[in-house]
Amino acid sequence: MDRNLPIGILDSGVGGLTALSPMQKLLPDESVIYFGDSLRMPYGNRPKEEIVFYAQKMIDYLQDKGVKAILLACNTISSHIDSLHSDVKLFSIVEAGCMAAKETVKNSSLGIIATCATVESGVYEKMMAKTCPEITLTLNSSKSLPKVIDSQIENTVLLNEKIRECIDPIIREDSAIKDLILGCSHFPIISEEINSIYPSLHLIDPAVKQVEMLKEYLTQNDLTNLSKRTITLYTTAETYEFAAAIKRLKLEIDTLMKVELV
Ligand code: DGL
Repeated sequence: MDRNLPIGILDSGVGGLTALSPMQKLLPDESVIYFGDSLRMPYGNRPKEEIVFYAQKMIDYLQDKGVKAILLACNTISSHIDSLHSDVKLFSIVEAGCMAAKETVKNSSLGIIATCATVESGVYEKMMAKTCPEITLTLNSSKSLPKVIDSQIENTVLLNEKIRECIDPIIREDSAIKDLILGCSHFPIISEEINSIYPSLHLIDPAVKQVEMLKEYLTQNDLTNLSKRTITLYTTAETYEFAAAIKRLKLEIDTLMKVELV
């Protein structure tokens, strides 16, 4: 394996850009090729067969470009990691979220917000039962919040309404919840908005742990980059949707391009 190959990151849209923030802090010398299928998002409202079909196409695209590892930044895609094929190591954001919860959650109640497909897959319950069986989970999904974040983030009234619709039922069901896993990669983009409505809620962004796990893998296998770093983003939709998220997350990138996923 060539250690100077980039890291592949894939997501249904702009959400996986939240993995680029910890990348730029923890692995600032690594090159990245990012693929976001904004044209087809939300994946979270699609059946498993379609999620796996398009996710596999993105993995194949990244492998054709040449990558040394792939971060599945999308929880909805990570829910079906067992159905995906790759020659390079795939890192699941769901696994990272559960590891992060194990390390940070102090009480026995935990909330998770995610897409409909992620919640319906039962992946968080299964994995948390293995990593922290003592924690009681309360999950809720949103059909529309990821899409609002992807393409209407400036509509604050709509955004706040969708946030409340998603989180209020969790707090009502278990008022002891102090920690909330952002189980959809789009949600950390609106951490500030969530915390201004729920100031005492501790938000867990699984992408941070995912990048820590990647760093450990690269270091242990002598795969850290020694060449010049480049950050390339591909989207299947119009690039202006990405531009808003890039600005919000204060990311440094070299190339942003619209491509087709065939
Ligand atoms: N990025 C996806 C995730 O993390 C959510 C967005 C979608 O529904 O496409 O689950």
